[in-house]
Amino acid sequence: MSVVTIAALIGLSTAGCGPRELTPVRRGEVVYRTNCASCHNRDPNLPGWMGPPIAGSSRALIEDRVLHLSYPPGYVPKRNTHKMRALPWLNGHIDDLTAYLDQAARHSS
Ligand code: HEC
Repeated sequence: MSVVTIAALIGLSTAGCGPRELTPVRRGEVVYRTNCASCHNRDPNLPGWMGPPIAGSSRALIEDRVLHLSYPPGYVPKRNTHKMRALPWLNGHIDDLTAYLDQAARHSS
């Protein structure tokens, strides 16, 4: 993913409102599209070519997976594969990702 693509994505998602007005959900959407949708589906309610649907995932699950590739205690994973890679530089975006995936789950039919 090039810097240009990321800039274009951010530009698209901010069309209509200034960057300062970006909500956590919108910020989370940009982070998701640029970092997660390559394996998970662009629509987090649907399975991706590699990753399972993750709309509605808890904050603890998202944090453990993205930063540490682990699961919260007692959590039964949707897949037993070990194909995801940690994305530790997304520390600081976990709340935004959680907000986006939460609202994506509410808006699925
Ligand atoms: C390289 C492909 C890839 C990328 C990029 C990726 N994932 Fe995953 N993800 C997977 C796969 C495959 C699984 C299933 C378990 C495994 O194989 O590791 C998974 C599992 C998960 C799960 C656990 C689902 C469950 O309930 O068992 C969550 C949550 C998750 N990913 C979130 C994310 C988020 C958020 C991002 C972006 C910040 C992301 N992933 C980026 C491939 C990916």
